[in-house]
Amino acid sequence: MKQKLVLVGVLLILAAVLVACGAPAATAAPTTAPAAAATEAPTVATAVPATEAPTAAPELTGDSLRGGKLYDIWFEELAVDAPKDVNPLWLDNAKAGETTPEDSYRCSTCHGFDYKGDLGFVGIAVDAGKDPNTILAALKGSTNPKHDFSALMDDQALTDLALFVSKEQIDVTAIAVDGKPVNGHADAGKTLFENNCTDCHGHQALGINFGTDAEPEYPASIATDGTVEFITKLRFGQPGRPKMPSGIDNSWKNQDYSDVIAYVQTLPAASPATEGGRIYDNWINALGATAPEADQPLWKTQTENTTLKGGDTWLCSSCHGLDYKGKDGINAKGTEGYTGFPGILDAQKMSEADLTAWLDGTKNKDHNFTSYFNADEIAREVAFMQKAMTDHTPFVGADGKSTGNAGHGKVLFTTVCKVCHGDDGKTLNFMVDEGGTEYLGTIATDEPWGFLHVATVGVPGEPMPSGMNLGWSAQDIADVLAWAQTLPTK
Ligand code: HEC
Ligand code: HEC
Ligand code: HEC
Ligand code: HEC
Repeated sequence: MKQKLVLVGVLLILAAVLVACGAPAATAAPTTAPAAAATEAPTVATAVPATEAPTAAPELTGDSLRGGKLYDIWFEELAVDAPKDVNPLWLDNAKAGETTPEDSYRCSTCHGFDYKGDLGFVGIAVDAGKDPNTILAALKGSTNPKHDFSALMDDQALTDLALFVSKEQIDVTAIAVDGKPVNGHADAGKTLFENNCTDCHGHQALGINFGTDAEPEYPASIATDGTVEFITKLRFGQPGRPKMPSGIDNSWKNQDYSDVIAYVQTLPAASPATEGGRIYDNWINALGATAPEADQPLWKTQTENTTLKGGDTWLCSSCHGLDYKGKDGINAKGTEGYTGFPGILDAQKMSEADLTAWLDGTKNKDHNFTSYFNADEIAREVAFMQKAMTDHTPFVGADGKSTGNAGHGKVLFTTVCKVCHGDDGKTLNFMVDEGGTEYLGTIATDEPWGFLHVATVGVPGEPMPSGMNLGWSAQDIADVLAWAQTLPTK
């Protein structure tokens, strides 16, 4: 087999040489080049610099690893909006079933993470090793005008995809079969995971929730329920997240992938306390729920706060504060957020049954959230109050300044927060929709308690890591706040 390849290679070089010497076009070359010439060829070939040999179609250059991320979710990698219609190719296939417009445009949805085709669509395994020019043409509609992606992506993106299809496909069954890693060793996988993943995902891989807090999804969920998709993430990284490492870049072998899968499959796939913390902050965003129109019934029992209405009056944080101290904390009398409602820090000591009774209306019929939370969601809220509701009082002085160590905070910030917020905390502007400016430094200075809450449990509805699940202590988080308070506020 190997010899045959050498022969083909030699013939190609020979054909190129012939073309360079004014011989007929490359396609005609094989017939004029006798196989016997093969042994003589190398000396001829080395005499001719490769750059001088013109080729029929230009060799495509690009980044096949980027192509792998584009194959997964091209609109995330390109940071553009996904199309709003369902792909016409999808509608041509009666077997395909229900989909969202977004999914109908992902290469991976139709052709599969195993490249064998999915939902009745063809696979692309047959295209491995093909001339990327042919694949590029197919992406521009040469085989089917509906398979033309050139209005959605630039030429380089399509080229990277073609290079990926030609060069980077593997037989995933060498790594995992039916969701089980082939000969995977969890111990070896643990070392790789600790060295490459924990900065962002935490030791238990619960740092970032990819789903909503109604249906949480962590690496363990994907390693178990979408093993082949997980292999793609491991090999190429996550689209649109340039800092997530690529196993191919790190020269991982099949064994490494099997080992990491084996390990991640042993990790938990739920984090009730931090999920509950995001529900506490804003359950409407965290659960992806529709905001109630009417005010929370207890809201009318106070007359101080008239700015909030509807959904906002139903947020735990509106009444009890992001410092959990109610009228005795940041929302004290005289502040904009004052309601007069009590704090709940002491409730940390209550039993699970009592806390549940507070949320399902048993303790007070007007303090009933069961129209909006199911039993699991109530359990997450209870877990938050018992396990993640921290008294941050020692860490914030009367002037709002963190008492933490900014030097240590900078180290933590640089490893984790900088990836998305930038060195100066200004990469993300939280008020971009309202046309204002609000940066990490602004929140750290103006709302230090809110900062501590979100740095501990994460931001509702956003893929932001939870400090608690990165293994950070309350002191560590206060240190990050101290550093963030040195960043620009505008
Ligand atoms: C809605 C489903 C769908 C999506 C999304 C889709 N394809 Fe296809 N693809 C097809 C179908 C159907 C064919 C069959 C041939 C044709 O009609 O052109 C095909 C053919 C191909 C082929 C040629 C296969 C052969 O016949 O040798 C390649 C390569 C390919 N697609 C790659 C991609 C890439 C890369 C993307 C992402 C940019 C993509 N496809 C997105 C459905 C899809
Ligand atoms: C620099 C930070 C960083 C590192 C390091 C990192 N990731 Fe990620 N990872 C992310 C971010 C951010 C996301 C995207 C979350 C989102 O958009 O929902 C993500 C997403 C993922 C996803 C899938 C999300 C999905 O949409 O299905 C998996 C699985 C994953 N990471 C596993 C890993 C593994 C395993 C490692 C180590 C080999 C790793 N990550 C290293 C930041 C990182
Ligand atoms: C509209 C304002 C409001 C909202 C929203 C609200 N609460 Fe309350 N909460 C109160 C009031 C008022 C009390 C005291 C009621 C009483 O004594 O009967 C209370 C009592 C509690 C108690 C008992 C505290 C104790 O020490 O006895 C807990 C625990 C609690 N709330 C948690 C929550 C959680 C969690 C949420 C979000 C799911 C929430 N609350 C949403 C107003 C609110
Ligand atoms: C994977 C990307 C990512 C990382 C890493 C990240 N964040 Fe964020 N962060 C976000 C996103 C997305 C938002 C929401 C942006 C918006 O609302 O427009 C956000 C918002 C915030 C907010 C404002 C929340 C609010 O209520 O307005 C704070 C504070 C914050 N992040 C702190 C941190 C800290 C501290 C770290 C390091 C522990 C960190 N972030 C790491 C993505 C990230």
